[in-house]
Amino acid sequence: MIHKQKTLFSGIQPSGILTIGNYIGAIRQWLEMQNEYNCLFSLVDMHVITVRQDPKLFRQQTLDVFALYLACGLDPNKSIIFAQSHVSAHSELAWILNCITNHGELSRMTQFKDKSQRHSDNVNVGLFAYPVLMAADILLYQSDIVPVGDDQKQHLELARNLAQRFNHHFGETFVVPEPMIPKQAEGGRIMSLQDPEKKMSKSDANQGAYINLLDEPNKIRKKFKRAVTDSDNEIRFAEDKPGISNLLTIYSAFTNKAISDIEKEYEGKGYGALKTDVGDTVADFLEPIQQKFAEIRPDETQLLKMLHEAATKADKLARPTLNKVMDAIGFLPRG
Ligand code: TRP
Repeated sequence: MIHKQKTLFSGIQPSGILTIGNYIGAIRQWLEMQNEYNCLFSLVDMHVITVRQDPKLFRQQTLDVFALYLACGLDPNKSIIFAQSHVSAHSELAWILNCITNHGELSRMTQFKDKSQRHSDNVNVGLFAYPVLMAADILLYQSDIVPVGDDQKQHLELARNLAQRFNHHFGETFVVPEPMIPKQAEGGRIMSLQDPEKKMSKSDANQGAYINLLDEPNKIRKKFKRAVTDSDNEIRFAEDKPGISNLLTIYSAFTNKAISDIEKEYEGKGYGALKTDVGDTVADFLEPIQQKFAEIRPDETQLLKMLHEAATKADKLARPTLNKVMDAIGFLPRG
């Protein structure tokens, strides 16, 4: 289906190299969405600084993440892929939205409660107002659709409330965005290789728990070989076999084979065979992405140029909304 007229916005925190869980759960679908919507993908660097960063590493990591998205196939000719901090309208709108957001509704955000516990030495106001900045990101582009995972649903609900509240008090200004819950892989989420009851996460302290998109082929194979499984040696998708089920989910996601077909294929074979094949499949799948990354990542001048061009496009789209908002609020016209 073609919805060329609809705008889709998503934000990516450039806070680390993505895992195969991110690839299957998000990126793979964005590659399709690029053809169906007007997409904006923002590297939300201003969100990242709500947790203290080392400036040098942070700068490198933002470029890493950008290059990796390009290597995965996000296409700057189809989508606007830009750094949030390059488009000042985000901060400007965030301030205005701060002034229609209640302290109480932000204190109820589960992610804030969670993060302020994890970073109890740095519970800054930015962390508290994080969802308001996210609402500004979305509303600034009159976005119709926002693909979000479960953990961001509450934030999207706030963005919808703020849009409605603003429209109510100051007149029709914002499109009220709709969430788009991404399709899951057959078998469900990609889980940790070390604790298959937990979601695979790039911030896991145990590196064996996740496959990051830039892991070397041999490391990938090794991690799959060491993946935690049960001991009955039957290759079957079942609730009481979370480790094997996770391997089946991953294998199915990267081969597009149905899980039931994979079960048949491995009848009578041991876990070792499945682990080897999953490792090979994922390593082979990532090889061209890693090659492309290695090709484009060194040319920082070119990467920055692409980001600057994208920021110019984003700025053009954002300005009219911001001007309308400032006018509706009662600010004097700018010169
Ligand atoms: N908070 C989102 C996350 O951590 C990132 C984000 C920032 C975002 N702004 C956004 C996502 C706007 C969707 C739309 O995943």
